[in-house]
Amino acid sequence: MKNTFKTIHSLNQSAEGSIVELRGWVAGRRDSKGLCFVVFRDGSGYCQCVFSKEQLGEELFEQTKSFSLESSLIVRGSLHFDERQEGGKEIQVQSFEIISVSEEYPISKKAHGTDFLLSQRHLWLRSKRQWAIMQIRNATVFAIHKFFQEREFVQMDAPILSSNAAENSTELFATEYFDRSAFLSQSGQLYGEAMAMAQGKIYTFGPTFRAEKSKTRRHLTEFWMMEPEMAFYDLDMNMDLIEEMLRYIVNDVMGRCPEAFQVLGRNLEALQSVNQIFPRIPYDLAVQILRSEVDVNGITAKSYLEGEIKKEVARQKEVMLEIEERELAANDMNSKKGVRNFNRNKADSLKNDLKQIEENLRNYPKWLDSASNFSHGEDFGGSDETVLTMLYGCPIMVYRWPKAIKAFYMKVDPDYPDYAKGVDVLAPEGYGEIVGGGERETDIDYLLEQIERHDLPQNAYQWYLDLRRYGNVPHSGFGLGLERLLCWICKLEHIREAIPFPRTSQRLEP
Ligand code: 4AD
Ligand code: MG
Repeated sequence: MKNTFKTIHSLNQSAEGSIVELRGWVAGRRDSKGLCFVVFRDGSGYCQCVFSKEQLGEELFEQTKSFSLESSLIVRGSLHFDERQEGGKEIQVQSFEIISVSEEYPISKKAHGTDFLLSQRHLWLRSKRQWAIMQIRNATVFAIHKFFQEREFVQMDAPILSSNAAENSTELFATEYFDRSAFLSQSGQLYGEAMAMAQGKIYTFGPTFRAEKSKTRRHLTEFWMMEPEMAFYDLDMNMDLIEEMLRYIVNDVMGRCPEAFQVLGRNLEALQSVNQIFPRIPYDLAVQILRSEVDVNGITAKSYLEGEIKKEVARQKEVMLEIEERELAANDMNSKKGVRNFNRNKADSLKNDLKQIEENLRNYPKWLDSASNFSHGEDFGGSDETVLTMLYGCPIMVYRWPKAIKAFYMKVDPDYPDYAKGVDVLAPEGYGEIVGGGERETDIDYLLEQIERHDLPQNAYQWYLDLRRYGNVPHSGFGLGLERLLCWICKLEHIREAIPFPRTSQRLEP
């Protein structure tokens, strides 16, 4: 078969009026007298195809009646650019061929529950919103590789099967490995450290597994992590690199995916916050901020949240009033159907806003309570991370953590012996931790102590300890959770939309 067709995306380079062939699927249809308007998709984008009886003749036009949702077609016609149309272009169809008429498609325009959609994930991926997310995922992965390749990092693949824990032994997935047991990798870091001693600067990018039982919107059991590791980098250099990387990725993706962001209705201003300098906040200060003992630019967490509660109460009143008005207009039989539908849709969307407001009003007092009573030495919970980032509106880096709550390999800060040189990056808009990393401990005796304290089998770590025996150097690295980053970039409600086929404690299919 000769490749004669173009992609919808590439049509932007074609001339007005040129004859093009497209191959794809029916994503929507609308009929009017002698005309059939199809929203056509081919994976690269969307465009409108107009089938007219006048152009096609009675017999061929008759066939358009069989265009059910997701039917596959080849269409040929003339290309016309039109701002008002889907994707800014339209094809006036001159001829077409039906490849397959689809059975009644299970996913329709009506609102489906998430559980239903997740069980239809193999089809749900075709929906416009999911398409947009996967386009952004692809651009994000590409940007990550570009960033590191341009800076002389060497990509390496870490093993998935391993005999030891990289992070902590409680979240391991165990599997049979011939006559012994093995675990699925939680992180490629320890192997990355070995490779950094061979290649200088490396990054791994692969699937990682954690037996997380928690049902949160931030946790998957299988997720993709990108982990750079750099010889001769200390914590400050590490933080500089993280900041430069996030700024690069987000700007690059915003530039490459305008259509996808438009589909998602993503406010790009919030993402532009990567261009601010990321505040670097020691853990101790973060705790004081949470407890409202210290303010940020004159505002304490308490005054901020109390202000937000007031604002939400006012908005709640406004929205409730508008819903009432819209519903009256939607039921007004004296007005046109279009006007009634418009008001109906507006009322529905306002009801969603109202739900969000009500949720915020339930949450804010709880968050405030949890933040005010935060106990020094603990890890931050999801709401604590949200409260902290609310006060800044851009990504922040929390560093110098109590060593007791960090992994065994983390370097102790010589100036603060109870603290480790770790860093977490928290994304704004309530997305929380997207990056975790730090400087690695180089003192072999301390590492041995930690391995024992964390109840890890010393034998399995002998190879890792060799890195401290032979050509030991200071080094640092971090892990970026791809899906966590995507959640923020795309402003997703739940992390399961950020990965093609999500794995959670509840779900292993499809
Ligand atoms: O903070 P974590 O546990 O750090 C590590 O694994 C280090 N070995 C990384 C390194 O220094 N090389 O995980 C790193 C990141 C988190 O910041 C988060 O973005 C993501 O991985 N992550 C998860 N994403 C989705 N679902 C989960 N269950 C995740 N757990 C961690
Ligand atoms: Mg972490």
